[in-house]
Amino acid sequence: MKRIGVFTSGGDAPGMNACIRAVVRGAVYHGIEVFGIRRGYSGMIAGDVYKMESHSVSNIVQRGGTILKSARSKEFMTPEGRKKAYNNLVDLGIEGLVAIGGNGTFTGAMIFGNEYGIPTVGAPGTIDNDLYGTDYTIGFDTAVNTALDAIDRIRDTASSHDRIFFIEVMGRDSGYIAVQSGIAGGAELVMVPEVLTPISEVVETLKQGWSRSKSSSIIIVAEGDEEGSAQEVADKIKVQVDENADIRVTTLGHTQRGGPPSAYDRILASRLGLGALEGLIGGHKNVMAGIINNDLVYTPFEDTIRLPKPINEDLLRMVKILSV
Ligand code: F6P
Repeated sequence: MKRIGVFTSGGDAPGMNACIRAVVRGAVYHGIEVFGIRRGYSGMIAGDVYKMESHSVSNIVQRGGTILKSARSKEFMTPEGRKKAYNNLVDLGIEGLVAIGGNGTFTGAMIFGNEYGIPTVGAPGTIDNDLYGTDYTIGFDTAVNTALDAIDRIRDTASSHDRIFFIEVMGRDSGYIAVQSGIAGGAELVMVPEVLTPISEVVETLKQGWSRSKSSSIIIVAEGDEEGSAQEVADKIKVQVDENADIRVTTLGHTQRGGPPSAYDRILASRLGLGALEGLIGGHKNVMAGIINNDLVYTPFEDTIRLPKPINEDLLRMVKILSV
């Protein structure tokens, strides 16, 4: 393989730049030319690419976001869009791809690979940590720490005013960010999409706290929770508990997607970027590089997309025990 392309796609995640750096520097080390494709599949269709050298990735290991930019391309979901992308890759002599992204990115890569045979190896980049085939995804650790920083600050003011706070964190259909930031932040309860926490249980938890002289509470709500958004949960609670209860809602939103990556994410991204590149050189295709129990593994895109990544229910149980 003489020439490859690298791109980021879907929601950005802190550590994507460290991953791009590892792919580019690894390619230079192995004597392979590497082209950066801007805005994921949109750039592939538009032919928005540039040749990257070692210096193209200087001074980015510490930066959030992605220097290659990111997008979710509707056109790539059509056969016509994929044909344009394929023709551009052929014209440029690109023989393989490293795709940094999440579920949607790998779904696109799998379809493209099956249609045109271009080998792609993925590196999991998403704050959601919702991909089967790796213990952690690039950006998750930073997002948890960003959420935790906000939770700590909210706890100060919640305590001063004897308030109940419902804090909504991201994660799409996954409760990983909620569970980890909730445990680290000492939350009274964590509500996740994987396991239903009925409103009656939230009310019960709050009442038990009051009976033990707790004057403030923090409840973390994952954005995909079945009971609704943090605001909707708070509205339902309001009518069921003491009408004088002082309730506030904070939605952390896209703050969780930005900021410098943690040391953990930079190291993970570097391992996965190099792992994806060397997997591609070694003949892997249509697989995602992941780290499981500290070992580099490759999992077919089909499995990373199809198989669920279960949440650790012991951790949810622990939240309840520790908030007694
Ligand atoms: O997948 C990452 C993520 O941040 C999810 O947690 C969230 O549901 C979604 O992307 C938000 O997407 P957008 O940036 O398009 O609003």
